[in-house]
Amino acid sequence: MKTRVTEMLGIEHPIVQGGMQWVGLAELASAVSNAGGLGIITGLTQSTPEDLQKEIARCREMTDKPFAVNLTILPTIKPVPYDDYAQAIVDSGIKIVETAGRNPEPFLPLFKSAGIKVIHKCTSIRHALKAERIGCDMVSVDGFECAGHPGEDDVTNMILLPLAARRLKIPFLASGGIGDGAGLAAALAMGADGINMGTRFMVTKEAPIHQNVKQRMVEASELDTELIFRSLRNTSRVFKNSVAEKVVEIESREGETKFEDIQPLVQGAKGRQLFDDGDLEKGIWSAGMVIGLIDDIPSCEELLTQMVSEAEDIIQNRLNGLLG
Ligand SMILES: Cc1cc2nc3c(=O)[nH]c(=O)nc-3n(C[C@H](O)[C@H](O)[C@H](O)COP(=O)(O)O)c2cc1C
Repeated sequence: MKTRVTEMLGIEHPIVQGGMQWVGLAELASAVSNAGGLGIITGLTQSTPEDLQKEIARCREMTDKPFAVNLTILPTIKPVPYDDYAQAIVDSGIKIVETAGRNPEPFLPLFKSAGIKVIHKCTSIRHALKAERIGCDMVSVDGFECAGHPGEDDVTNMILLPLAARRLKIPFLASGGIGDGAGLAAALAMGADGINMGTRFMVTKEAPIHQNVKQRMVEASELDTELIFRSLRNTSRVFKNSVAEKVVEIESREGETKFEDIQPLVQGAKGRQLFDDGDLEKGIWSAGMVIGLIDDIPSCEELLTQMVSEAEDIIQNRLNGLLG
């Protein structure tokens, strides 16, 4: 498949692995890139900008294909030296960056002067248009189905993608709710130039997380996600376990929810431990509704080959056949 995304990013398949906190290590990013997609190392998973540079070097040892780095600019409890992370990305010679969380404008002069292509992830058309206006090269449009932060508008990709196709000039990726070839074909049909996936890539052989997490996601249905932090207007879609249910219960209590009330439950450190030791009720982890479509744990190579061939079959045979 040849699209504006494969051309601009220099990849074989129009498939990107979105940044994932604690999951986006060199093992996964290189596996996705070696399979012909674009793997992404998650910048803030590395504790310091120096560690990020080491992780990028490690990834280069595992692949000679293009890969990117995600820089997520979200409010955090501990201040993050974003400028130093951005500089580490530039110094490492990375040529593609995925930004998310906030307007990336302050970082664009640095990235642009280093010849970096910037893909900004947004959850609304107005933010996508803003990203285009300030000079981003591409956007990822994250629908309400997605894992992580879907924003507060609750608009699904069935509406967002055709709107993006009508209004944007720059290429865009469909993100959220995609896990098979039908999703890829549908995204392309709605005008996207490629897709971005998070949850589906968590459930692959190379994802560096405990087998229990992958297995639980295989067993789960599309009903097994929960929206937390709604009361704080910082909504996050996570896997529905006892901890996520407790957070929602606290948020539904009368009166304003204070972050201190839920903080012990949602600490990032607990989520990270859960990925290491497989204790599924220790904390929370991001997951999208697409878990309802996931029923195996393939390698990234198997996944991408299967998805592309399924999408090609749908386009060539099923859809073309409908025309008689
Ligand atoms: C475990 C996990 C962690 C994530 N962490 C981040 C992150 O740190 N930064 C970011 O921009 N997006 C993050 N995301 C969102 C993904 O990059 C992607 O936008 C999203 O997963 C797409 O929806 P899908 O899961 O339905 O494919 C995360 C997703 C998952 C599943």
